Amino acid sequence: MKKIFLLFLATRALAGDVVPMLEIDLSAKPKPVSPILYGLMTEEINYSYDGGLYAELIRNRAFLDPSRSKEIPNWSLDLKAGAQGAIRVVDTTPLTDKLPNSLEVEIQSAGADKPLRVINNGYWGIPIKPDTTYRVSFYVRGNPGTWNRELKKNDVEPFSGNLDVSLENADGSIVYAKATSPAVNKQWQKMELTLKTGSDVKPTTDGRFVISVKNPGKIWLSLVSLFPPTYKDRQNGFRIDLMEKMLAMKPKFLRFPGGNYLQGDRLWERFDWKATLGPLPFRSGHQGCWNYRSTDGMGLMEFMTWCEDLGAEPILGLYAGYSLKQQYVEPGPLLEYYVQDALDEIEFLTGDAKTSYWGALRAKYGHPEPYKLKYVEIGNEDQYDKAGTYDARYAQFYDAIKARYPELQVIASCRAVKSRKPDIVDDHFYKKSEWNFKNLDYYDKERRGEGYPKVFVGEWATVESSWTVKDDSIPPTPNFGAALSDAAWMTGLERNSDLVVMHCYAPLFVNVNPRGRQWSTNLIGYNNLESYGSPSYYAWNLFANHVGDVTPPSKLETAENVQLPHSVTRDSVTGKTFVKIVNPSDKPQTVRINLNGATEVGKTGKLETLSASSPNDTNSITEPTKVTPVTSPLQIPGTSFDQTLPPYSINVLEFTAKTKP
Ligand code: AHR
Repeated sequence: MKKIFLLFLATRALAGDVVPMLEIDLSAKPKPVSPILYGLMTEEINYSYDGGLYAELIRNRAFLDPSRSKEIPNWSLDLKAGAQGAIRVVDTTPLTDKLPNSLEVEIQSAGADKPLRVINNGYWGIPIKPDTTYRVSFYVRGNPGTWNRELKKNDVEPFSGNLDVSLENADGSIVYAKATSPAVNKQWQKMELTLKTGSDVKPTTDGRFVISVKNPGKIWLSLVSLFPPTYKDRQNGFRIDLMEKMLAMKPKFLRFPGGNYLQGDRLWERFDWKATLGPLPFRSGHQGCWNYRSTDGMGLMEFMTWCEDLGAEPILGLYAGYSLKQQYVEPGPLLEYYVQDALDEIEFLTGDAKTSYWGALRAKYGHPEPYKLKYVEIGNEDQYDKAGTYDARYAQFYDAIKARYPELQVIASCRAVKSRKPDIVDDHFYKKSEWNFKNLDYYDKERRGEGYPKVFVGEWATVESSWTVKDDSIPPTPNFGAALSDAAWMTGLERNSDLVVMHCYAPLFVNVNPRGRQWSTNLIGYNNLESYGSPSYYAWNLFANHVGDVTPPSKLETAENVQLPHSVTRDSVTGKTFVKIVNPSDKPQTVRINLNGATEVGKTGKLETLSASSPNDTNSITEPTKVTPVTSPLQIPGTSFDQTLPPYSINVLEFTAKTKP
C-alpha cells in the first residue's frame, strides 16, 4: 500500500503540474531533536572583540601595537593651541612586566590657554551618543624632578598639575564632555573619571578622546581606557546592542575561543588562557592570527560571563599543540605540558574554590561558584596538520581528560582520529549555495548509533566568493540568496538532529569599516555605534526560535525541477508543530500539508516569513532592516491544507497538532 502511494506521488511530481505534498507522519515514532542544537561560534577575527563586542573604545590602550612608521598607532599629538612638546612610546617606565610600554609625553611649554593635547581616534572613531556616561581610566606618572645643588645645573622641576580629559569631534571644534583629573604625582596612579554627554548631542561615529596637559614637564601614560555603558553595567564589559542581538538568537551554546584564534600562527601565539586572567595591568595581550594584536581584555573569565549572560553552554576549545604555520608539539613527553595546561584550565573553571589550586584562583578573581562545563574540544581543524599527528595528540588529551573528568564530552576537531572514538566530531562547511542545495541530504546518509560519534557542525556558512575577499567588492555580510541557502542547509541539520547535536554559523561578527574584516562573509555587522543582522541572521533566528524536541518523519514530494527544502519538529508535550519550508525559486509555490495521524488540529496558527524581492537584497549598516521576518496569522482548516509560499522565501508555520496519547 505504502509503495503504491509513493509511486502515485512520484508520478504526480514528475507530471510537474501538481501541488507539492508534504506528508508528516505524526503517528510514527519521532527522532529526538538535540536540546542544544542552535548555538554560536566566536573568535577574535574581523575585530570581533577589540573594536567589537568588548566595549573598550581606546585603541592601542597600552601602546603595544606595532608601528609600521614613525606614527604611534591611533595616537597623535595636537600642538595647534601653541604648546610645544613631543610624544613617544618608551619601555623605560613600565607599569608592569606585562605592560612594559608607556606613552612619554614631553611638555616643553604649555598653559591653560595653550594645552598640549594627546588624542586617541579609537576603532574607526570614538562613538558619541547623547545622554551617555562614559567611564575613563588611565595610569599616569609625572617626572619626579632632579636636583643637583652643588653644580646648580640640570635642575628639573617635578611635574605638577592635573589633566583634562574630553570627548570631542574630529577637528576639536565641538567638546561633547569634559572632566579634570586630580593632581598627577611622581608614582603611577590610576585616575578614574566619568564623561557625560548632554541630551542635545548628535550621535556620531567620528569622535575623539583627548587628554590635555597644561603644565610643562614630562608625564607617562599607560592603560588608557574608555568604556561606554556596558551590558549589565559591568566593568570591562560588553556592547549592549551586540548582546541583545545574540540574546534574540536564543543560543544554547557558545564555542570559544576559536577557530584559528585558539591556535595562533605560531605556538607562542596561541590563546594562552593563563595570560588572560586577572587585572588588566597583568594582561599583556598577544598577536592574533588575523593580522592584529589582541588586548586579551576578552579573557577566559569574560568568555564565561558571556556564556552565563546568554544562558549558553560553554564549548571550550583547548589548545592541542598545533598552530597554523604547521608548528606542532610532538605527542608524548613534550605534549604533556599542554595536556597539563588543559587540565589546569578545566580545573580553573570547574574546581572547588576551597580545595583546588585553580578553583581558588577563580574565586579570587570573583567567581567562587564553579562554572558549568560539559563540552571541551581538542584543538581546531587539526586535519590541516600536515604531519598527521592529531590522532596521537587527541588520544593523549582524551585519555588524560577522561581519567580525571569522565563526565566531560571530548570533541574531536576533525575526523582524523582512529585510535579513540570521540564523543563528538566537529565538521566545518564553507560552501557555495549550489553545493548546499545539492547536499541537503548530507547527514541523512551518515552512519549513526553505538560506535559512531555524534556530530557538531562547529562552523558553517554559505560563502559564494573566496573567504579571502576582504575588500569592499562584496558586502561583509550575506545577501538574501545566501540566507536561502543557509536556511536550506539548516533544514538538513535539523532533520538529522538525532546525530547533529550542535551547529553554529561562522564567523559571527564583523566590523564593517574599511580593513575591518579578514573573512568575506559574516553574520552580524557593526561599526562603533550601530549594528545590524544580515538576512542569514534572521533566517537563523527563525529556525532557532521555532524548534520542538522531536522530529516526526516527513517527506516533501515536488516536481523534478523544484526544490523545497523542509524540516518538521514538534513539541512532544504540547503538540506545537513547526514546519519550515524554504522556497528558493522566483515563483510562488503552493504546498499541500498532510498531517497524517493527527486527531485534532488547532484552527489558527502563526506564519513567519522572511522573503525578499531579489536574492541580491541585503541588510547593511545604512539599511539594517531591509530584510526582516513578517508574522501573519495562519488558518488551519483541518489535517490537510494548502499553504502558498512567496517567491524567495523562508517560512515557518507554527500550529498545534494533537495525536492519540
Ligand atoms: O571562521 C573562520 C575560520 O575558518 C576559523 O577560524 C577556522 O576554524 C576556519 O578555517
